Amino acid sequence: MAQTVTLTRRWPAQVEAHLQSLYDLSVDTTDRPRTRDELAAALASADALCPTVTDRIDADLLGSAEVRTRIIASFGVGHEHIDLDAARARGIVVTNTPGVLTDCTADLTLALLLGIARRIGEGEREVRGGSWTGWRPTHMMGTRVTGKTLGIVGLGRIGVAVARRARLGFGMRVLFHNPTPPPPERIAAAGAEPCSTLVELLQRSDFVSLHCPATADTHHLINAERLAQMPAHAYLINTARGTVVDSEALATALRERRIRGAGLDVYEGEPDVPAGLLELDNVILLPHLGSATEETRTAMGMRVAENLAAFFAGSEPPDRLVC
Ligand code: DGY
Repeated sequence: MAQTVTLTRRWPAQVEAHLQSLYDLSVDTTDRPRTRDELAAALASADALCPTVTDRIDADLLGSAEVRTRIIASFGVGHEHIDLDAARARGIVVTNTPGVLTDCTADLTLALLLGIARRIGEGEREVRGGSWTGWRPTHMMGTRVTGKTLGIVGLGRIGVAVARRARLGFGMRVLFHNPTPPPPERIAAAGAEPCSTLVELLQRSDFVSLHCPATADTHHLINAERLAQMPAHAYLINTARGTVVDSEALATALRERRIRGAGLDVYEGEPDVPAGLLELDNVILLPHLGSATEETRTAMGMRVAENLAAFFAGSEPPDRLVC
């Protein structure tokens, strides 16, 4: 009998068709976030549960006597939505989809950086709003990107990909800060210079881009005190996780022009976006689009398929996080 596999959201059609051909696949066509009860029911009925970053799978859910699921194959690289210790304790394998979303997330980081520095959101709103009066020398002047200094917080795969784009594409000088020293080959690939403290990076950068995971250590890493350490002409870009930034403190810093601007793709408590940010012009706000290309979302789904295939064949899933 085919194994039962539950997807919590709609996935790219090609991936759904592939999984359908192999498993007894359950997909909820309403494509809305699963409720807690629905997640509990899926864990009780499916051999494999395939959640996304919007499904919180905590110790209570995993502790239920009803759980039948043997593998949680998550669609996405971030895994803070799954209690890995509880999964390990329950003997449930957990996998994610690293690597395949690196380039597209790095591309979107540069889009935000350019977008906020060159006031692309504001300009578009002006044209669509019919208030553009024509070219003039002082119209909507932004900040030159080429040759500036970019500080990367977290030199993992995406941090390296951003560093390369910034350096090779825009002649930027790239600094990084990482809590543990990255391997020399990663630093060489990035062509980035280390800062021994986050404060040093914040003080020396024209643009700061966040690429660290959501952990207890990175919760509100960028708070009022840290924002005050950035120069007033600097910009903050976040394509990592919303919890890394204290959004109230950021809204205040932006409103009072203590930093010049921000480009955000992620928020605490998504899909809610703090009202304090929505009312500002010096921030670009995107709806968590880092990996949102047809190519990458399909590759993420196929990566889940590889993890499932390996697991059900009794071999090592390539992206195993626990068990
Ligand atoms: C992830 O994979 O963690 C992203 O945030 C969704 O692309």
